[in-house]
Amino acid sequence: MCDQRGFTLWFTGLSGSGKTAIAKQVERELRRRGLKVERLDGDIVRQALTRDLGFTKEDRDKNIERVTFVAKLLTRNGVAVLCSFISPYRERRAKTRREIGTFIEVYVECPLEVCAQRDVKGLYAKAFAGEIENFTGVSDPYEPPENPEIVCRTAEERLEESAGKVLAYLEEHGYIPV
Ligand code: ADX
Repeated sequence: MCDQRGFTLWFTGLSGSGKTAIAKQVERELRRRGLKVERLDGDIVRQALTRDLGFTKEDRDKNIERVTFVAKLLTRNGVAVLCSFISPYRERRAKTRREIGTFIEVYVECPLEVCAQRDVKGLYAKAFAGEIENFTGVSDPYEPPENPEIVCRTAEERLEESAGKVLAYLEEHGYIPV
């Protein structure tokens, strides 16, 4: 028997803010400690479970609704679930919080200019050129969390620092053994 406590870490923020990088770093550390982990990532989930969806508000909400369902099942089965999705709408994130219960919101904060400058996937250039519609932060809204449990400021912190904040929170609140 494993007495690991299930929880969902929900990383929200702009595209290119560093959600996936931090989630991967936290995942590595949790696995190193022998914990059961699942990581759900927008770019991957959108090629499978939600490949029929686009980026209108309705579709983004459906994307998050389906992911929430999966995260809820895993969480109640004692898994550490790491979700990284832009999830721009506050109300939808609030529903997710209620549905999952053991939910820790991580705001991956990074100014739009910095995300656009990094432009890891080359999407900001296209969005500014008007080649991609409904692009978050450029031609579509992002509603920052009002009361996130954790804030990672990726323009100022190193990756290890951001991941360290998340791990410290989990330890301090008894989600993982110290
Ligand atoms: S969410 O809004 O529904 O939560 P999700 O995190 O799954 O979005 O997917 C975001 C990823 O899709 C981005 O990191 C980017 O690679 C890609 N993408 C493609 N088109 C858009 C768009 N219009 N707005 C934001 N991201 C987009």
